[in-house]
Amino acid sequence: MRDRLDARTRDWVREIRVFESALSTNDILKEAARQGAPEGVVAIASVQTAGRGRHGRSWVSPPGNLFLSILLRPEDPAILSLLPLAAGVAVAEALGVEGVDPRLKWPNDVLVSGRKLAGILAEASTGASGVESVVVGIGANVNLQRTDAPEDLREAVTSLREETGRTHDVDAVAAAVLVRWTAWYDALRVDRRRVRSAWRERSVDWWGRPVEMETGGRRLVGVPRDIDDAGALIVEMADGSRLAVVSGEAREIRPTSS
Ligand code: BTN
Repeated sequence: MRDRLDARTRDWVREIRVFESALSTNDILKEAARQGAPEGVVAIASVQTAGRGRHGRSWVSPPGNLFLSILLRPEDPAILSLLPLAAGVAVAEALGVEGVDPRLKWPNDVLVSGRKLAGILAEASTGASGVESVVVGIGANVNLQRTDAPEDLREAVTSLREETGRTHDVDAVAAAVLVRWTAWYDALRVDRRRVRSAWRERSVDWWGRPVEMETGGRRLVGVPRDIDDAGALIVEMADGSRLAVVSGEAREIRPTSS
């Protein structure tokens, strides 16, 4: 794996821990962080038996797909909320090399034709001095066949294989993700606005169309207008006011045909 990384990524990645099977690569790195592991440790598993998604959901993790987590110790608190967006851009670029055109749905779903190709779970651990570490976990459907997914998810997911009709090399995808990640993590520290505009350029085309949001236990309907410098979704409400939504889930409301 290391020999597939560019020079900058080889310097930044301190160690790659590879597992045939793991409960969850995020949990492995959260524990490593507790024990003092430095930024740049990466965990990759061929299979996860307790893979986790956002909002307490589970993440289907059969062999042939990418399950990768990265340990960060960001010094600047201002970049924290942008880490998942930077990861989304990195993943979309890395998967794009395989012959698809991934789009980003706020906050960090990676979609092709509206179906989920990859997801990102960023988890921060705090201590007396604030956020001490962040684990960014990336799950990408590389060779997943829709029939591998639970029946109720089959219509909502896709994979590189489903899209291109051929099998893809998971290690090559992992290496590409790490190369793009180091570039975007650098960009985040140098010029945060670049991340915002790269995310915006790759976003799904839902600007100006009504969405339903779940945020902080509330359900609301509004029209997405932009993301701000902190990565919050700017939503225009029915009364014309604008709300910056920092976390949650958004779903486009499609007109019903009569
Ligand atoms: C989502 O719900 O969209 C986020 C899915 C994140 C899944 C990845 S797979 C690697 C890492 N380990 C986990 O348990 N979850 C993340």
